[in-house]
Amino acid sequence: MVTIESTRSKLIKLLADAKESYISGQQLSEQLHISRTAIWKHMKELEKDGYVIEAKPKTGYRIKHFSENVSANTLKWGLNTSWLGKEIIHKSTVSSTQLVAHEAARTNAAHGTVIIADEQSSGRGRMDRVWHSKKGKGIWMSVILRPEIPPYMAPQLTLMTATAIADVLDQYDGINPKIKWPNDILIENKKVAGILTEMQAEQDRIQYVVIGMGLNVNQADNELPDAIHYRATSLRKETANEWQIITLVQQILQAMEAQYDTFLKRGFSEIKTKWESYGFRIGEKISYHQGRENKQAIFSGIAADGALLVELANGNKEKIYSAEIDWFVE
Ligand code: BTN
Repeated sequence: MVTIESTRSKLIKLLADAKESYISGQQLSEQLHISRTAIWKHMKELEKDGYVIEAKPKTGYRIKHFSENVSANTLKWGLNTSWLGKEIIHKSTVSSTQLVAHEAARTNAAHGTVIIADEQSSGRGRMDRVWHSKKGKGIWMSVILRPEIPPYMAPQLTLMTATAIADVLDQYDGINPKIKWPNDILIENKKVAGILTEMQAEQDRIQYVVIGMGLNVNQADNELPDAIHYRATSLRKETANEWQIITLVQQILQAMEAQYDTFLKRGFSEIKTKWESYGFRIGEKISYHQGRENKQAIFSGIAADGALLVELANGNKEKIYSAEIDWFVE
């Protein structure tokens, strides 16, 4: 099926490949199998998306400036994935991309559909906490997956997503990401990103999973949330640079697709090893409350079911699923 979006992506690619040269309307119309009037209409749409297009009479078109505005088109152009993000729903403002994603999933949205917003008015985090999602300052995005795995394996998808985000950040000089169990991404002990996974499942079958990601990108110091439970940071704060949201989203989706494909083909063990390579405080002593008991143990890694593994003083290993953890014990 030829969609408007695929035609537009092809059009941008043709213009991009031509670099500084002009391509005539005739050439474009032949290559895309649409009329010259249709080409002109697409150009107007691209301009609305923030591209600057130069149209020279009797010569043709060329791109003078690529768009930095986030939209379904600008995200798709240059996105090197085979299934993740083939469908992108971009909204300027939503209450929460999680809600939009659930609604879309219930009405049969495809595996790999991405919902992204510039701003969320009721962004939510784990444990019903508020997730601050200021306009244009970060990545507020939810991905719909329809994995053919049993529901008990779903936490592995969260660990996989955290690993994909850490892999992307790790490529940049001066950023040394850590993952604090289960899935907070930290830079220099401060939280830069969080993940919220929600699932609709029957007893032995997942209908769909929505993986929500929040990444603080371009907030200045005074725009960061004053969270009670953690200290927050942004990529801009850590590097003193403005970051390109489009590029980061594309890199995250590419990394996530690659890891998901590995996960389905070869299982969880490679992802677990990678996760552990970023694990915050692995090999160190942590302190945690279970019921009324206060325990200390060495954080030794994660189990395949996503549980935190600790080694007690007597050498026994224990799995922890939920506990109040003090990560900063001396
Ligand atoms: C956490 O660390 O508590 C998880 C934060 C998850 C935030 C993201 S932003 C996109 C998606 N929409 C939401 O309302 N929440 C997730």
